[in-house]
Amino acid sequence: MSALTGRIALVTGAGQRVGQAIALALGAEGMRVAVHHHASVEGARKTASALRGLGVDNATFAADLRDPRAPATLIAEVTGHFGGIDLLVNSAAIMRRLSLDTVRHEDWDETFAINVRAPFFLSLAAARAMGPRGGVIVNIADHLAHESWPLLVPHGASKGALEVITRQLAVQLAPLVRVNAVAPGAVLPPDGWADAARRKFIEETPLRRLGSPDDVAQAVVYLAAAPYVTGEVLCVDGGRHLR
Ligand SMILES: NC(=O)c1ccc[n+]([C@@H]2O[C@H](COP(=O)([O-])OP(=O)(O)OC[C@H]3O[C@@H](n4cnc5c(N)ncnc54)[C@H](OP(=O)(O)O)[C@@H]3O)[C@@H](O)[C@H]2O)c1
Repeated sequence: MSALTGRIALVTGAGQRVGQAIALALGAEGMRVAVHHHASVEGARKTASALRGLGVDNATFAADLRDPRAPATLIAEVTGHFGGIDLLVNSAAIMRRLSLDTVRHEDWDETFAINVRAPFFLSLAAARAMGPRGGVIVNIADHLAHESWPLLVPHGASKGALEVITRQLAVQLAPLVRVNAVAPGAVLPPDGWADAARRKFIEETPLRRLGSPDDVAQAVVYLAAAPYVTGEVLCVDGGRHLR
């Protein structure tokens, strides 16, 4: 049994890819898992089914995190179902490629609504629901906050803001709630990444390979159970942040 066994986790964006890997890794630790999704209804069902296969209590919850009311509603639904919450993993995000010539206010607002505002208000609602028993928040940031990519300025800025929120809330919510982040490098690149760009990226990465969703998931498991760690941003990026 691990320290996480029987505890309740909410993972946002758990219907596919990295969020799904995090939900399954937490389930493998014996956590009860609230699987949040938006468009990935079928994906969330698959996550739930895989968790059931592990013998883990779980339920799926739909929410569009562009809606300012969604964070409070989602936390209320999860705590109503499970009777509490011990861990919030903010993994849901968007990464729009936006050139500086054509980026619109709407793009900026949508990026910040999903990548920054939603994790912030989810964290506040979760911390309230955790109450005197306390709990843990893990934000999924991005190595792109530390690098300069021409089409990813709003995205990088949003993930930089998420790191700031991580450190601020780590202080403000202490000592009951620990708040940390994982900043992955490329673990599941988007479709259509050109071979030459992928090779260049790998050459520039000290560990000379891409990561995997499970690398991120295991970092989340570590932070979920590390009782004396708060306000950290754990780079799981093959050493790119050292360049
Ligand atoms: N993949 C990588 O290599 C990589 C690298 C660095 C950092 N990260 C970070 O890791 C996290 C997961 O990455 P990923 O590649 O798995 O991302 P992804 O495939 O784009 O999935 C992100 C999730 O966010 C959810 N989401 C998007 N818009 C939403 C909305 N309006 N309301 C609610 N949920 C919404 C989606 O849910 P639905 O599908 O249900 O709509 C989706 O499952 C993200 O925070 C990302 O920035 C990933």
